[in-house]
Amino acid sequence: MASIISHSPQETQELGRQLAASLRRGDVLALAGDLGAGKTQFTKGLAAGLGVESDVTSPTFTLVHEYDGGRLPLIHIDLYRLDDEQEVLGIGLDDYLESDGVTLIEWADKFEALMPRGARWVRFQILDGDEREITL
Ligand SMILES: Nc1ncnc2c1ncn2[C@@H]1O[C@H](COP(=O)(O)OP(=O)(O)OP(=O)(O)O)[C@@H](O)[C@H]1O
Ligand SMILES: [Mg+2]
Repeated sequence: MASIISHSPQETQELGRQLAASLRRGDVLALAGDLGAGKTQFTKGLAAGLGVESDVTSPTFTLVHEYDGGRLPLIHIDLYRLDDEQEVLGIGLDDYLESDGVTLIEWADKFEALMPRGARWVRFQILDGDEREITL
């Protein structure tokens, strides 16, 4: 478990970019942290690190975005707007979790029980101003 202080969105993206190098087929990343904590910034960097060229935006309304073209496919899920487990299963979470790419889930802590045992948790905490504590 490593805790890092990020001082800017760029630093948070850089962390995502670095983590991308260690990702393997089937990995699940469970992101937790409040609104504006930096989960999507981190995901942008991670996607760039995988070699995804398209712009990564928050799937808050569409719930799921899929990005091909990188070293591994990336599935980006945001559970913020969902309220119960049936809805989450209804979007096909289990199939995404079994994908042979990388599945990254924002607001994973809302549905901790649905996350696979092997998920890698990344927790974001807002400190003062632009500071964020990121725990891997
Ligand atoms: N150190 C930092 N790391 C990341 N974002 C930062 C940092 N400092 C300031 N910010 C700002 O905080 C916001 C983080 O937004 P982001 O969309 O990444 O959050 P989020 O955790 O995905 O929120 P949501 O729960 O709404 O999806 C951005 O506006 C970004 O510019
Ligand atoms: Mg987000």
